[in-house]
Amino acid sequence: APAADGDASSRPGEHRFSAVLHRIAEEMAARDDHGAPADYIPMLAGADPRRFGMAVAEPDGTVYGVGEWRQPFSAQSITKVFALALALSLDGERIWRGVGREPSGNPFNSLVQLEYENGIPRNPFINAGALVVTDRLQELTGDAAGQVRELLRRESGNPDIDFVPEVAASEAAHGDRNAALAHFMAAYGNVTHPVPDLLTAYFRQCSIEASCADLALSAGFLARHGVRADGSALLTRSQAKQVNAVMLTCGTYDAAGEFAYRVGLPGKSGVGGGIIAIVPGECTLCVWSPGLDRRGNSVAGVAALDRFTTLTGLSVF
Ligand code: DON
Repeated sequence: APAADGDASSRPGEHRFSAVLHRIAEEMAARDDHGAPADYIPMLAGADPRRFGMAVAEPDGTVYGVGEWRQPFSAQSITKVFALALALSLDGERIWRGVGREPSGNPFNSLVQLEYENGIPRNPFINAGALVVTDRLQELTGDAAGQVRELLRRESGNPDIDFVPEVAASEAAHGDRNAALAHFMAAYGNVTHPVPDLLTAYFRQCSIEASCADLALSAGFLARHGVRADGSALLTRSQAKQVNAVMLTCGTYDAAGEFAYRVGLPGKSGVGGGIIAIVPGECTLCVWSPGLDRRGNSVAGVAALDRFTTLTGLSVF
């Protein structure tokens, strides 16, 4: 067993990380700094930043958690991982013609790099890159958002996972930056659908509501080297490695270096306050707390994952 900085043992009858999860939840409740919920999507702005939930899913589909781990929240940018996985599985390497895989060092909604890099976004997890992926998935399937919802439903076993039209509409009403990104890439021929249609698909995809349990289970294929819950392959082993690598280097935007330093796992955040993280071969994690830092990552979410890897000694390093 790895030498860890804490006592990770559970009582008989409990799951292997139960004690750690309870300890982390207590520590998070005692924090005074919880950050502030996203204010640019009015539907999310009212959330209480002290709310907290965390789930662990084992590769065999066992899931358990602490706090509000069964409470649905707005998945937002976490959906970008699932959209990328679907695009990679259907399109292979071709997806990388229109989007790179380097950290941007810029905020998730930044415009500046796009012009001097000719309309090719740095990576699939900043908004511009996610728009390219959704555009491609729309072309491949005719219903990008529906395919992402279906993947989450299948992998989590929860048929109630769905879009929240009010969240999508709220974002559309304040979507000028995303519209600017999409139009800019359209000018370079890097998106093919009419921009209003692409934005509709992207906002629907972002509006999906799911719980920590749902998202930890849904990400299980990334801990199982590409294998879905039903035993079929969504990704090859190499592709699962590639998605995890891009999550590690780009999944938390201009905080990806700090996240890798503190947590040491591939992770992907969303402005709803969720973060998924992968321990390949071991488990998947999802944590939710709606208070964000200035880079758009959940304050308690990052702190909880930092504590998890510190207390258990698990990380990719
Ligand atoms: O595109 C947007 O602005 C949002 N729908 C998603 C962004 C997001 O979750 C960024 N996360 N930290």
